[in-house]
Amino acid sequence: MKIFVTGTSGFIGFHLARRLLEEGHQVIGLDNFNPYYDTRLKEARHAVLAKFQSFLSYRGDLCDRPLLDRILVDHAPDALVNLAAQAGVRYSFEHPEEYIRSNVTGFLNILEVVRRAPTKIPLIYASSSSVYGANTQFPFSEDQPTETPLSLYAASKKSNELIAHSYANLYGITTIGLRFFSVYGPWGRPDMALWLFTEKMLRGEPIQVFNNGNMWRDFTYIDDIVAGIVGVIDATIAGSIAGCQIYNIGNDQSEKLMDLIGILERELGVKAKMELMPMQDGDVLKTHADISRLQKAVGYAPTTPISEGIPKFVKWYRDEWLPAIK
Ligand SMILES: NC(=O)c1ccc[n+]([C@@H]2O[C@H](COP(=O)([O-])OP(=O)(O)OC[C@H]3O[C@@H](n4cnc5c(N)ncnc54)[C@H](O)[C@@H]3O)[C@@H](O)[C@H]2O)c1
Repeated sequence: MKIFVTGTSGFIGFHLARRLLEEGHQVIGLDNFNPYYDTRLKEARHAVLAKFQSFLSYRGDLCDRPLLDRILVDHAPDALVNLAAQAGVRYSFEHPEEYIRSNVTGFLNILEVVRRAPTKIPLIYASSSSVYGANTQFPFSEDQPTETPLSLYAASKKSNELIAHSYANLYGITTIGLRFFSVYGPWGRPDMALWLFTEKMLRGEPIQVFNNGNMWRDFTYIDDIVAGIVGVIDATIAGSIAGCQIYNIGNDQSEKLMDLIGILERELGVKAKMELMPMQDGDVLKTHADISRLQKAVGYAPTTPISEGIPKFVKWYRDEWLPAIK
């Protein structure tokens, strides 16, 4: 297979691309290496992918429509997986325009090139558990209402689902939205709790624990996520799933934030100094995914509890990342 993946220097895009390349597929990658977080991490991920001969990469932007057009015409991929986006909730308070630029205008460009592509290809794109906002019916299922996003980030992801629906309806393209739930693992994101806590605890600094630690997240290990995305790619190319679909892709376990901190304390051998904080604007209390729809569609079955996944992250952070940036 030849797969066009956007966001290949990002956390999930990197892991997906590496897995596809290891399986002998061709990957065309695109990323703008923006400085939202440490670009050394993006460069390091890129360097791993660049070792594969069947990886072809473009440093470019979703807003460069002619470039996207050219990639589709020149390479005729079998599927497009759009993972490039402006992530994060807090960043949107100061940089709202980035969410409209990359997540809305950029996403529109993706849909436009897919609908005009020389051959029909499926589009798989990243949505987010944040579309569930403050819903209190757990676990979250795809049938629940999602029109009350609590942040601009969540609103941009919901808008992707709506725009994708209209394009699938108008142009008969296949659009599959995957609602990711707090993805973590080696090569993860420095703006997310697991990384921030690990970094601060190793330095002996206090960690900020929001809502006094009364938060729950459906933490999903990266290898489980990648297995799910690959399952969706295979199914869309085979035609066993088509049209406009939305799937939760989580772990089906909602973990208390304090339990994550407890595992980290054990792994790092450091007692966390906690600065208990109120709930943050735009944040949600709890996420928990009902994954039965994706299970039925592609046999999605996550296998990694946080008790196994967190030690893998810590090992990577200590043994590979810290020495790499010394
Ligand atoms: N990681 C999670 O827990 C999580 C949860 C829900 C949704 N998501 C979504 O999954 C996708 C991947 O997330 P991630 O964790 O890998 O994030 P990430 O920030 O690590 O990766 C995104 C990549 O996209 C690139 N990018 C951003 N805007 C771009 C643009 N306009 N043109 C080209 N490249 C651009 C960035 O440089 C980055 O490398 C995103 O759409 C994100 O919103 C992630």
